[in-house]
Amino acid sequence: MDKLVIRGGKKICGTIAASGSKNSALPVIAATLLTPDGTFAIDRIPDLKDVRTFIQLLDYLGAETSFENNLLKVSTGQLKSIEAPYELVKKMRASIYVLGPLLARFGHTRVSLPGGCAFGPRPVDLHIMVMEKLGATVTIENGFIDARVNGSGLRGAHIDFPISSVGATGNALMAAVMAKGTSVLDNAALEPEIECLCNFLVKMGAKIDGIGTTTLVIDGVDQLKAVEFENIFDRIEAGTLLCAAAITGGSVTLTGVMPEQLTSVLDSFRQSGCTIAANGDAISLTTPEKLLPVDITAQPYPEFPTDMQAQWMALMTQAHGDSTIIDRIYLERFNHIPELNRLGAHIEIRDNWALVHGPQELTGTKVMSTDLRASACLVLAGLVAKDTTEVLRVYHLDRGYEAIEKKLTALGADIERQKYQEFS
Ligand code: UD1
Repeated sequence: MDKLVIRGGKKICGTIAASGSKNSALPVIAATLLTPDGTFAIDRIPDLKDVRTFIQLLDYLGAETSFENNLLKVSTGQLKSIEAPYELVKKMRASIYVLGPLLARFGHTRVSLPGGCAFGPRPVDLHIMVMEKLGATVTIENGFIDARVNGSGLRGAHIDFPISSVGATGNALMAAVMAKGTSVLDNAALEPEIECLCNFLVKMGAKIDGIGTTTLVIDGVDQLKAVEFENIFDRIEAGTLLCAAAITGGSVTLTGVMPEQLTSVLDSFRQSGCTIAANGDAISLTTPEKLLPVDITAQPYPEFPTDMQAQWMALMTQAHGDSTIIDRIYLERFNHIPELNRLGAHIEIRDNWALVHGPQELTGTKVMSTDLRASACLVLAGLVAKDTTEVLRVYHLDRGYEAIEKKLTALGADIERQKYQEFS
């Protein structure tokens, strides 16, 4: 296995380009299953383990794919299966994104049920509810979601989401774009990744009104076509790199970003005393003498993202004062806390919120996590910790950060990837 060995104390400074977004790449790639017509060319796809797993799933279904230099070419003209197997779905929950497009195109699909995950149960009831509302019969058997439509295919429906769900909104969009008639999605997720998916579908020929709002109105069309498209930047990678600069007392400029998609995170940085300059497609951050504590509550977009909560917690260990962190999306998403405390942080869990006592001097040791963003949080802590921090099981990080150690090295970090063996 790989680990990251970090000798902390170096300031993160310089200019770096943001990678493409993982969480928009996955539904966009899934949407290529909607049409046999032509070859898609999708640029700025990050070269990540999750993306490679999704491409593997498309290959399994029979698609023709090539992926080089962040350009993905896909043709789904000759699919030979409508089933997403357990072996691939268990590697990545986002595989459930094939449910909507396969059902819309073939009238039948089977998708293995994803399991739990490192930060608590993550049900798929809303995905199933969406397909049923659009006219499918859904059964759960032998660990699979089996969804099928009879006769005339999916038909438009009014879907009112009881809670905001990125994945279920994405699946609803992909199923509804070819349903007969009009669908209305209320309380749809507002995340930029959903807006990106909408723009992709519209380019393919879909009719969607209300893009960028919580009410999406979709008029089903008979046909969609393959298109060229450029993916958006990864706002979570960007936020993580800003944290890397802030936690080390450095300064950084990120290019190729859309600052308006990071508003809540940038506001939090400003409250912490950082100076933020947003210029066109670039964001610069400089750190104050003393970082101030800032309370955050992770909630659906445009509020502070749950995927930045762990990284923010690492940063707050260096703030001059106490801060609180609440996650309203995943109440149990706190498994980074014991590891941060092993590095010398002083963080208490009170019910479903965390109290971070800052500032605490961190000192390096071996740490690991079983989730992607928690692993990023440990890397950030390692950048500021005295001595050497080893972040084990880097494969979690590789799921969502493109060339992370190369980017951090370019910005001045002393970080290197090494092989190691775990005792069995
Ligand atoms: C996506 C992101 C993930 C992020 C999350 C929340 C991808 C690939 N992943 O995940 O990184 O942390 O949004 O911003 O884009 N829920 C249900 N039933 C369902 C579906 C969801 O109860 O059928 C709940 C979840 O448990 C959670 C909340 O809804 O509490 C929001 O989850 P959701 O937005 O669906 O997350 P994902 O799309 O899985």
